[in-house]
Amino acid sequence: MDKSLFGIANFDVYVVVGILVVFGLMEVFAGYLKSSKRESGDWIQEVGSFFVLSVLIKPGIILAVLGLGVWLAPSFQYVWADWNLAIMLVFFLLIDDVLQYWYHRSAHEYEWLWRLHRPHHQAEEMGFFVSYRNAALYYLLMPNIWWIGLLTFLGGAKAIAIGLILKQLVIIGSHSPTKWDRVLYKYPWLNPLATLVERIIITPAFHFAHHGRSMQDGISDPNGNYGNMFSIWDQLFGTAKFTRQYPTELGLQKPTNDHWSAQYLYPAITSEDTNSNIARGFTKEDTTVSAPSLIQLEPGTYLWCQCGKSKQQPFCDGTHHGSKHKPLVFEVKRAGKVRLCNCKKTGEGPFCDDSHLA
Ligand code: FES
Repeated sequence: MDKSLFGIANFDVYVVVGILVVFGLMEVFAGYLKSSKRESGDWIQEVGSFFVLSVLIKPGIILAVLGLGVWLAPSFQYVWADWNLAIMLVFFLLIDDVLQYWYHRSAHEYEWLWRLHRPHHQAEEMGFFVSYRNAALYYLLMPNIWWIGLLTFLGGAKAIAIGLILKQLVIIGSHSPTKWDRVLYKYPWLNPLATLVERIIITPAFHFAHHGRSMQDGISDPNGNYGNMFSIWDQLFGTAKFTRQYPTELGLQKPTNDHWSAQYLYPAITSEDTNSNIARGFTKEDTTVSAPSLIQLEPGTYLWCQCGKSKQQPFCDGTHHGSKHKPLVFEVKRAGKVRLCNCKKTGEGPFCDDSHLA
């Protein structure tokens, strides 16, 4: 099998490292690293996770799949090696990206997987190393890496090498505080290009919205914009939100204080913070009550809890993360008293419609 690209052995590795260096230098020169509030634990987790993923987890999974393939189905090895490179590349990227979309989305919708992905959202600043900030087990279970192993076995190594370069360029770019897409929104004559770009690939504005603290700012949607390389899946499955703006507050809606070792090695190591999802014995309780709350609200934007687990009923406090629920955003234009539903059975959310009496 020819593992070289353009006649250069390990060309893909050089390019991916090159992409990291370029974005790293851009962050240094733009002063982001200087003004960074990241603590040592953040650096240990992000840089450490990057190296463990690159040196141990990814190669380990790929070698395991290759070994299993040779052992269980040797006649299938390299059977697709004659495919046209462009077709193989598109095939690889589309399967890879749709797998990652659903894995990532599941990591927001299922509590056990959310605990492994949650460290990614504990970062309160963007940066290219943030894209590698997940629990080790999250990467071990990541279907894309197994897909890379399978397609390598079937003969798609060259397409994978090119595909990973393109993918890293988009993913690292979408996590970088350099916000390369800003220029596209600045000049009206570039708007058609901006639309074309954002409807195909993940831009920083699109992905920053996913990292925003809560939907209250009108920009963020931590329970949406799940795509990694292409935004087509979010558009197709109804989770896309395009605002062309960047949230000012990033991170978890309900921050907790977890040591980096618990974030990275959960469930082997758990958090000391009892409010954290990764603390031993952590559970979410049903906080619904039948009586509505009569509350005086000032003009503004509010989040009404729909999951029934918030400790600040009737408002959302972020407990819904790790479930399919998200809060309902509502505007109050004039100060006054409102009856907000606490039983979560109303058909006129956030307001009580007396369903609790039925
Ligand atoms: S805590 Fe956010 S929807 Fe319930």
